[in-house]
Amino acid sequence: MALKAVIFDLDGVICFTDEYHYLAWKAMADSIDVPFDRTINNRLRGVSRMASLEIILEKSETVFSDAEKAVLAQQKNELYKQYLLRITPDDLSKEVLDTLNVLRGNGLQLAIGSSSKNTPLILQQLGLSGFFDAVSDGNGITHSKPDPEVFGKAAGMLGLPPEVCLVVEDAVSGAEAGHRAGMRVACVGDAALAGAGDYNLDSIAELTGIVPGLM
Ligand code: BG6
Ligand code: MG
Repeated sequence: MALKAVIFDLDGVICFTDEYHYLAWKAMADSIDVPFDRTINNRLRGVSRMASLEIILEKSETVFSDAEKAVLAQQKNELYKQYLLRITPDDLSKEVLDTLNVLRGNGLQLAIGSSSKNTPLILQQLGLSGFFDAVSDGNGITHSKPDPEVFGKAAGMLGLPPEVCLVVEDAVSGAEAGHRAGMRVACVGDAALAGAGDYNLDSIAELTGIVPGLM
């Protein structure tokens, strides 16, 4: 079916907050002497905050209570938000903005589908509050990626069936979520390297080359 909307993941696709996630988790892991590196970090892409913590604690010799885990997650999020507050609209790359504008200029609806509860803050920092036709994020879902819920909700907000939506993802878990939602998936970054998408792109700008053929 002809494409009508593109649903973008946020962290690692629209902006490079994935590096801030890494730095904040690294500081948290160091504080409890748990080994953490970029390989483990790649497993956290698209995964909710508490599920990410569980993955990091697989390497811990200490067993933490639920209350202690909540404190550790909050510790990470407070540091992460300090990084987010440094973001300005200048951090939105020209490549990303140009791509979004070309797609919209072709008549496509644009949405966000992110597991992050910090999505409203990030969009505000980037100057993108109100830019997207729909924002489905970690505040409105019960199950995070690879569950398809966040993308199903985004399509619902747009009033569109999944077959006319293309998901753009940097996470293998996110690509799986898009496919499970019944959508086509274009990948960049880590997920593209893993070949997780129907289209595996070197850069987000390549969307303007493939999308017209799908419309
Ligand atoms: C996703 C990130 O977008 O959001 C994950 O890829 C992150 O790494 C998840 O854990 C939840 O983010 P937040 O901001 O709600 O802690
Ligand atoms: Mg991502």
